[in-house]
Amino acid sequence: MQGVTVVDHPLVQHKLTIMRDKETSTAGFRRLLREISLLLCYEVTRDLELTTRRIETPLQTIDAPTLEGKKLVFASVLRAGNGLLDGMLDLVPAARVAHVGLYRDHETLQAVEYFFKAPSDLANRLVIVVDPMLATANSAIAAVDKLKEKGATNLRFLCLLAAPEGVERFRAAHPDVPVFTASIDEKLNEKGYIVPGLGDAGDRMYGTK
Ligand code: PRP
Ligand code: URA
Repeated sequence: MQGVTVVDHPLVQHKLTIMRDKETSTAGFRRLLREISLLLCYEVTRDLELTTRRIETPLQTIDAPTLEGKKLVFASVLRAGNGLLDGMLDLVPAARVAHVGLYRDHETLQAVEYFFKAPSDLANRLVIVVDPMLATANSAIAAVDKLKEKGATNLRFLCLLAAPEGVERFRAAHPDVPVFTASIDEKLNEKGYIVPGLGDAGDRMYGTK
């Protein structure tokens, strides 16, 4: 599918299988999500532009590669986005962070916003939106709508699992925003859950239910 990258690295797929297993503990789930986020972050940042900076090694002066442009923004869709955010910040500690508070109304499956805080200069930065689940895509579409309204023009969306229906809806709403995911699962069920999926990501991360 155009604009969609499935990260099929064996380590990602192995960890994802353990996360899907309903016997995996809350602590294990959280640890795996952090580990997997490092690998996903590696893929979503693979083509970042480089410039050079003159440095002196102990042996000679060189023009060495360094990231070009302003610091990245990671936009976490609360709550579950924070599980990806933590690991990504391990890899890119200087990134700026936006928080988009959204929850899915269980009856309507519409996204309800309850919080938003982002750096003011979104327009000049690459914004990577992170949320483990892309189900109906209502939350992802609302998060990107909001970030665009606040000035973001260069965005990517990173998740762990996606439903085919969600990917299609998201790409139709935001064709300029590439999607990165570890898996496109089979379908959405009648309650809007990804099947086979891993259940409710927020509940599994935080032990709520
Ligand atoms: C989950 C998930 C996404 C959303 C995906 O969040 O983290 O944000 O559902 O579903 P959608 O594509 O159908 O919108 P949830 O609303 O359960 O909130 P939580 O992270 O606070 O648990
Ligand atoms: N949100 C989740 O956490 N899991 C799903 O399967 C769908 C939406």
